[in-house]
Amino acid sequence: MSMENGKSATSTALNGTSPVTPSANGNVPATTEAKIEQLRRLQKEAKLGGGQKRIDAQHAKGKLTARERIEVLLDDDTFEELDMFVTHRSTDFGLAEQKYLGDGVVTGYGKIDGRLVFVFSQDFTVFGGSLSETHAEKICKVMDLAMKNGAPVIGLNDSGGARIQEGVVSLGGYADIFLRNVLASGVVPQLSAILGPCAGGAVYSPAMTDFILMVKDTSHMFVTGPNVVKTVTHEDVTFEELGGAMVHNSVSGVAHFALENEEQCLLTVRNLVGYLPSNNLEDPPIVPTQDPIGRRDEELNHIVPAVATRSYDMKEIIHRVVDDGQFLEVHAHYAPNIVVGLARLGGRSVGIIAQNPVVLAGVLDINSSAKAARFVRFCDSFNIPLITFVDVPGFLPGVGQEHGGIIRHGAKLLYAYCEATVPKVTVIVRKAYGGAYDVMSSKHVRSDINYAWPTAEIAVMGVDGAVNIIFKDQIEKSEDPEETRKRLVAEYTAKFANPYVAAGRGYIDDIIEPKDTRPKLIAALEMLKNKRDTNPPKKHGNIPL
Ligand code: HXC
Repeated sequence: MSMENGKSATSTALNGTSPVTPSANGNVPATTEAKIEQLRRLQKEAKLGGGQKRIDAQHAKGKLTARERIEVLLDDDTFEELDMFVTHRSTDFGLAEQKYLGDGVVTGYGKIDGRLVFVFSQDFTVFGGSLSETHAEKICKVMDLAMKNGAPVIGLNDSGGARIQEGVVSLGGYADIFLRNVLASGVVPQLSAILGPCAGGAVYSPAMTDFILMVKDTSHMFVTGPNVVKTVTHEDVTFEELGGAMVHNSVSGVAHFALENEEQCLLTVRNLVGYLPSNNLEDPPIVPTQDPIGRRDEELNHIVPAVATRSYDMKEIIHRVVDDGQFLEVHAHYAPNIVVGLARLGGRSVGIIAQNPVVLAGVLDINSSAKAARFVRFCDSFNIPLITFVDVPGFLPGVGQEHGGIIRHGAKLLYAYCEATVPKVTVIVRKAYGGAYDVMSSKHVRSDINYAWPTAEIAVMGVDGAVNIIFKDQIEKSEDPEETRKRLVAEYTAKFANPYVAAGRGYIDDIIEPKDTRPKLIAALEMLKNKRDTNPPKKHGNIPL
């Protein structure tokens, strides 16, 4: 299989398809040379996984093997494999005669851009990558090493789920992994690439990691598959419709990235890791840039339309401000009325949260609140400063939103911003109305530096709505209601639809020209680079889940 990034795939062109006998048929070779030869033979067998036929079947599906994936993922020649000789311990259902070295998962450590990471890569050619007791033990071993050594864990998932022949032992193995996922959460970054099936309770391990990446057409996640769904609810649905990449990226919000193919997926994992610290006690790596820190962008002065109801693309602002225009958007297909993602400013990683007026006028609703809350908490866990661009007309009204729990979900975002102690810098671009003003990293919730563009409108609500409520009687009783309404709108606009009232109270630290946004943000981040802030000691808070 050819690799576009110039890395070559692991050659596994061997002919073994039969199960391995790892103890070298019980014969101990007599000479050192023979012992080395035995080792080489076993290594070869292990690298063949479930055999060439199954490798060919994997390739025919457009999928790489477990080892080929590791080659794409890691820096060249950095992978150190562990537990290559582990085999399962089962004897039921003829398993005693079916043993494969490694037992369906390749585990170890290596480097991404020279930085240590731990990896497990499930091998679909061995029992469909299904999880046995020993397969789980291998995964737990690398997770434990990752925790002790403070490095990310990357899981490449391609598995038929619990090893059916093993029963509860396999379920226990899953639970051992789940526990470690939770203990590692917020300590080391955990990334999950879904590169095949991921079904049943198995989905809950990736679900508890920081990011899930899926590949279109070949990766599927569901708790119960199409057949069970058909039996229970009589719904006819395909694998792709039920749990394909786009479903989980755009509908359920389970996954954060949808990639066209495996190589793109693995390279995105590499890219993502580059923005993150290795653990919660470190800062993200600084990546030097040729993009001048003092770069001003005149175009930004013309981006916000004069008419408040007109939209513009917030992503253009983000791209124009960050280093080299590089913005790794996370959750791009889900709740696009809010944009979240990673970028760098002056070489430092930042997490960006921004309303996008192009979608639903940038309103905060259930999905966008939950999406942004999770991202804010991720960044806070891993010492990534938060940059918030605000243009929000408020929370979305409606019975569906209220009954769906906009109070509970909106509270998640408020909670996340209040709780976050990383450097927080906010730019109010246009609207900051109502409760959404408070939520979106206002000074009142411990934001450090808050800027407003001169186009900002910081008010309890939009001008028309406000005037219609507070001057209802006055307008109705006047001789010329339309004229009166216009006058009152103009008065209210002059008084409140601007940033100066907030700036006059110190709620805004400065009103800046849009073109100066990049240097201003970089200066603020530089000032805040040694920021220390804490929350009161407690076991943990009670975020409204
Ligand atoms: C043992 C399995 C297996 C499993 C697949 N295989 N799943 N072996 N345990 N769970 C084996 C097959 O027997 C086959 O072996 C090989 O893997 C490839 O499987 P195929 O069916 O030929 O491949 P494909 O057509 O691509 O279908 C893949 C699949 C299907 C969709 C994953 O195999 C499937 O539905 N498997 C069962 C999935 C499942 O119900 N798992 C349990 C879920 S419950 P050979 O020897 O022919 O190569 C669960 C609970 C977890 O996981 C709870 C955690 C708390």
